Amino acid sequence: MADKTYYITTPIYYVNDKPHLGHVYTTVACDVLARFKRLDGFDVKFLTGTDEHGLKVHQAAEKAGVDTQSFTDGVSQNFRDLTPMMNYSNDDFIRTTEPRHIKAAQALWQKIEEAGDIYLDNYGGWYAVRDEAFYGEDELTEVDGKKIAPSGAECEWMEEESYFFRLSAWQDKLLEFYDTHPDFILPESRRNEVISFVKGGLRDLSVSRTAFDWGVPVPGNDKHVMYVWIDALTNYMTAAGFPDTESADFKKFWPADLHMVGKDILRFHAVYWPAFLMSAGIEPPKRVFAHGWWTIEGQKMSKSLGNVIAPQDLVERYGVDPARYFMLREVPFGNDGNFSHEAAVNRINSDLANGIGNLSQRSLSMIYKNCEEKTPKFSDLQEEDNVLLELAQSKMLASVRLALDEQKFHSALESIMKLVSAADGYVDAQAPWKLKKEDPDRMRTVLYVLAETIRCLALIMQPVTPESAAKMLDQLAISKEERDFSFISKDHALKPGTAISKPEGVFPRIVEEEPQQATA
Ligand code: MSP
Repeated sequence: MADKTYYITTPIYYVNDKPHLGHVYTTVACDVLARFKRLDGFDVKFLTGTDEHGLKVHQAAEKAGVDTQSFTDGVSQNFRDLTPMMNYSNDDFIRTTEPRHIKAAQALWQKIEEAGDIYLDNYGGWYAVRDEAFYGEDELTEVDGKKIAPSGAECEWMEEESYFFRLSAWQDKLLEFYDTHPDFILPESRRNEVISFVKGGLRDLSVSRTAFDWGVPVPGNDKHVMYVWIDALTNYMTAAGFPDTESADFKKFWPADLHMVGKDILRFHAVYWPAFLMSAGIEPPKRVFAHGWWTIEGQKMSKSLGNVIAPQDLVERYGVDPARYFMLREVPFGNDGNFSHEAAVNRINSDLANGIGNLSQRSLSMIYKNCEEKTPKFSDLQEEDNVLLELAQSKMLASVRLALDEQKFHSALESIMKLVSAADGYVDAQAPWKLKKEDPDRMRTVLYVLAETIRCLALIMQPVTPESAAKMLDQLAISKEERDFSFISKDHALKPGTAISKPEGVFPRIVEEEPQQATA
């Protein structure tokens, strides 16, 4: 068993609506990290799932005229279906309506209550159902007589008996925690935002509701259900075996290494969650990374604008692997980004079709035709051969690893593309097609160096474009046992004389239909 472990989670998705690009983005990013870490020798746990309680989901079910449980069963399944569709490698899929989770949420509540951080009171406050969050009067703006939260969500006044979490008591301890764990919140700019929010003072948090019953019952008081966020956040521990803190899984995987979230839900993860956990005497996760939001062709994605991109659209238009690649390459992770069809086509064609695809296809075709369908023998490696090999067999992995440890997907992919450009430059400079007559030995050496470079490229592309990378490795006859990252090394270089299969294109070019000429 690997002694290095890695536990990574996506947010759990509300089942009030169907999945879209934003949801796929977060999970693909986590999937790439999970796959990377597995190949890099870690024992990985990768969790995703659905957040099924709360007023928002309850109201969506009412609107659909279906009972809430069947409604959540249906929508949750749409999220589960993304695993084969987007090629996710999650190890578990959690639903907050499962008994294992209800048990865990109640156990956490009890621990916090025992610590003296939960009390009963009456409450009046502004609640945004869309965000499932309370806002202070001072945070709201009034538009047409309506109270609007900073997120743009409409708030309504709620007044009821409620349990409270003593968040105000955790201000200093949270600040101290951020201070002693400088990498807890990334990117840095988001960390600064959270710190100034906490420094601004924390109000106690209402953590139960009585106005509806679609939630986890509060232990010892059935009139109340838990606030959906305290319930939802617990999912990360449920899946690690909580409340059995002695279980092998909990010991191995808690605290989680990374909660990946969108910037809109950072406060819940970086303020409330560590406060709940510290109160319960449980170690907080090691990192929360907040990524940015996608707009579509410059506009906010919304049903009313009719521009919501469904995961099926991505797969049909671009293919799974290119779609995964595009999302992570196009925008520096952490920033907002704009999704445009044109940008997707350009990026996919330039990096994948003309980049890796073309390099691999033309190199392997030359080998197939000129070297008896076998990886060629090489002789006398020259300076330029060694430079390319060193980049492929050693330097690239080191820089990708470093970038991914900070969730810099775009930089990681940039490093990979640098190898592709270096290899393209090498082919042009060496011109193996000329060497065929002039110096066949040198041609074989050049083609060997290219084949070895392609092997390393295919290995490192596995987390991002798993199917296409597997096809490349199959063509090179690399066995399944020789595909983890310990094989990206000189010691495991291609064996000359290995039969390769007839090369077939792995990254097709996206050819756009000519726009129809308008006829009068
Ligand atoms: N249920 C809560 C999370 C609970 S985690 C304990 C929730 N769910 S959500 O379905 O509304 O959103 C899930 C994730 O999708 C969030 O991280 C959010 O940032 C992300 N996105 C939703 N729309 C998005 C874009 N347009 N672009 C990128 N990500 C976006 O919040």
